[in-house]
Amino acid sequence: MKRHRFWLFTTMLVAVAAPLAAQELPEGPGKDLVSTVCTSCHEARRFTNNGYSPEDWPNVVAMMQNVGAPIPPERVAELTAYLIKNFPERPKPAAVVIPGPVKVTFKSWPVPTPGSRPHDPLATPDGLIWYSGQAANKLGRVDPKSGKIDEFTIKTPTSGPHGLVDDKDGNIWFGANWAGYVGKFDPKTGSFTEFKMPDPKARDPHTPLFDKNGILWFTLQTANMLGRLDPRTGDVKLVTMPVPKSQPYGLVLNSKGVPFFDLFGSNRLASVDPTTFEIHEYALPNPDTRPRRLAITSDDVLWYTDYSRGFLGRYDPKTGQAKEYASPSGKRTFPYGITALDDVLWYVEGGSKPNLLVRFDPKTEKFQSWAIPTGGGVVRNMMATRDGKGLVIAESGVNRIGLVEIQ
Ligand code: HEC
Repeated sequence: MKRHRFWLFTTMLVAVAAPLAAQELPEGPGKDLVSTVCTSCHEARRFTNNGYSPEDWPNVVAMMQNVGAPIPPERVAELTAYLIKNFPERPKPAAVVIPGPVKVTFKSWPVPTPGSRPHDPLATPDGLIWYSGQAANKLGRVDPKSGKIDEFTIKTPTSGPHGLVDDKDGNIWFGANWAGYVGKFDPKTGSFTEFKMPDPKARDPHTPLFDKNGILWFTLQTANMLGRLDPRTGDVKLVTMPVPKSQPYGLVLNSKGVPFFDLFGSNRLASVDPTTFEIHEYALPNPDTRPRRLAITSDDVLWYTDYSRGFLGRYDPKTGQAKEYASPSGKRTFPYGITALDDVLWYVEGGSKPNLLVRFDPKTEKFQSWAIPTGGGVVRNMMATRDGKGLVIAESGVNRIGLVEIQ
């Protein structure tokens, strides 16, 4: 188990980080396990700050077993009961449903491996839905017509598959976020190919995207880099962001093939010149903004989910003009996965209960929203189906893949 990586996640995600000493944990059967096992990769604050519902704790425990937490099988029930009793879910903002003219229906499928943490979905042109089972080290494929699900175990253990993208030959590419490579899966042969990074500091390939020339661009969040991979030669180029800890995250291409991405560790967006590799940065108006994911409309305007402030943001890199819209359920709702479909924005509030699917029409500047029936469990990413009639969503904390059909 590569512990240092997990330290990176936690130092990154836990803002106030004094470790909770073992003696501060409440007494009771299971305490010994929690104080030893659950603090060996990350701090206890990872779960003492927020907690989970009794329905969601077993999934978290399964997820931790998948990533290598050594819990004796005969003590899983005891440990889970301790966590349920002592770390209940903190109240979350209620999802605010805004009525409107659009009708949608939700479908979803539980993925076969418990605790998979389905992180990103990928809708392919054949109508299937792929997903990265991050904690289970699997790629999965759902046939929404039959409900049949296939899972494929990734060659290298604990690869931590993250963002997904397909190429024109039907291969599925993924950022191996925990093992530091870009992976390619060929569904026809079942074989995996790994593209290594030329620099060991490039440890966490995150979100991949192909441009029109077949070049794969990808962000590397904690490595603070952007990458470019040529699949024909395997050649990888990396560029480090000018400002430390910028955290390149969501990635889109504009109509001219220029990659734009957001810097989640800051209140800035950025672009890269595809030939000179020069980075341009664009500051967003509020210093507290943390743009997590990015979408782009056909006018090359960028739309970002402001994770820290609970806003949907619009930024036009041509004029430098920004505009922000407060998300329906308020500040602490952690807007996350976002996509544009026919120049309308769709995104999810991952911090409201249940998660809220939000539609925003830039023409009317009006919101419409729906509570996700399964709760959503933090929808980390979404995309439109290739026929443009729906959205695929990965419901990470409830171990499901969802399809939203738009009528
Ligand atoms: C082998 C290392 C390891 C051990 C041991 C471990 N964890 Fe984790 N934990 C992880 C990793 C990796 C993640 C995901 C990090 C990320 O992507 O941000 C994680 C994330 C979490 C999260 C956040 C889940 C989410 O979906 O965001 C919680 C809660 C958590 N761990 C609780 C626990 C508890 C409780 C235990 C003890 C049963 C435990 N962990 C033991 C590695 C570990």
